[in-house]
Amino acid sequence: MTYLETAAQFYSEVAQTPEVGLCCVQSTPLQLPGLKIPLPMQEMNYGCGTTVHPTELANQPTVLYVGVGGGLEALQFAYFSRRPGAVIAVEPVAAMREAATRNLEMAAQQNPWFDTSFIEIRPGDAFNLPVDDAAVNVLAQNCLFNIFEPADLTRALKEAYRVLKPGGRLQMSDPIATSPIPTHLQQDERLRAICLSGALTYQEYTQLIINAGFGQIEIRARRPYRLLDKQTYQLAENLLLESLDSVSFKVDIPEDGACIFTGKTAIYAGQEAFFNDQAGHILQRGIPAAVCDKTAAKLGDLKPEEIMVTDSTWHYDGGGCC
Ligand SMILES: C[S@@+](CC[C@H](N)C(=O)[O-])C[C@H]1O[C@@H](n2cnc3c(N)ncnc32)[C@H](O)[C@@H]1O
Repeated sequence: MTYLETAAQFYSEVAQTPEVGLCCVQSTPLQLPGLKIPLPMQEMNYGCGTTVHPTELANQPTVLYVGVGGGLEALQFAYFSRRPGAVIAVEPVAAMREAATRNLEMAAQQNPWFDTSFIEIRPGDAFNLPVDDAAVNVLAQNCLFNIFEPADLTRALKEAYRVLKPGGRLQMSDPIATSPIPTHLQQDERLRAICLSGALTYQEYTQLIINAGFGQIEIRARRPYRLLDKQTYQLAENLLLESLDSVSFKVDIPEDGACIFTGKTAIYAGQEAFFNDQAGHILQRGIPAAVCDKTAAKLGDLKPEEIMVTDSTWHYDGGGCC
């Protein structure tokens, strides 16, 4: 069996017998007015964060959801789009497709606004999405891509890029590792399937997204996810995994490199009313301007005495008030 087949077999098992708390972090589930989540669907929350960002889902986007699980996030996306076929959910595991279908039928009984036609579940996998080029506004996946080995992750990211419309968004939540995971754990197929040993470091993960062509990445959340303790996992030191929620945009990569927004700001503290770096950034004196990490580094180097750069908050959502 390949590691992908091991993963598929594992998810077939947990589709039939839910494993509560398999991947999720202890955070309040996303509450939305008038949305009721059926209990079996809650029990099958196998995501490690959220890919559903309510303030960014205007205009009834078409969403491709890869790895449907119990259907929780597909339902949450449907909440915003509310039209037949708005959400296409791709899932290779038959038992998971069946479980999601059952859960969504239950959701239709509990939510008067919801109709099962809003979500179409299609067989398929992350490497061959059954969707045309440039067909969707949003592609979301939660706690799936971390299972893939780097070469397969590259394939999945390129496939995501293919099906997104120009300007479209890749909305992901995945574990990342605070230091490289040793080979003996990476090769453990079961640990990989349960999202504990395939995680890349933040730098490796973001670089593969950029390599697939995405010109802008925004980090929505970063929090502790699991601890691989040294006794259980035969490690020299405990190894912390984090969960990273990100949105990557299908826009051109600027000549000087992709923009990654992690919540940094630049603040001008010189004598003038504003500072213009002649490269598109105007800083008003004393007022923080949200900047990507690349610009933050450039501005900080340019005038270290006059421009203060604040740390990453890891909660970037556009920001700015004026
Ligand atoms: C960790 S679960 C996450 C489920 C769901 N996203 C959630 O948040 O609850 C991973 C899901 O991806 C599916 N999956 C496994 N291999 C896949 C592949 N190669 N392509 C697409 N989905 C896959 C699994 O069957 C499972 O439904």
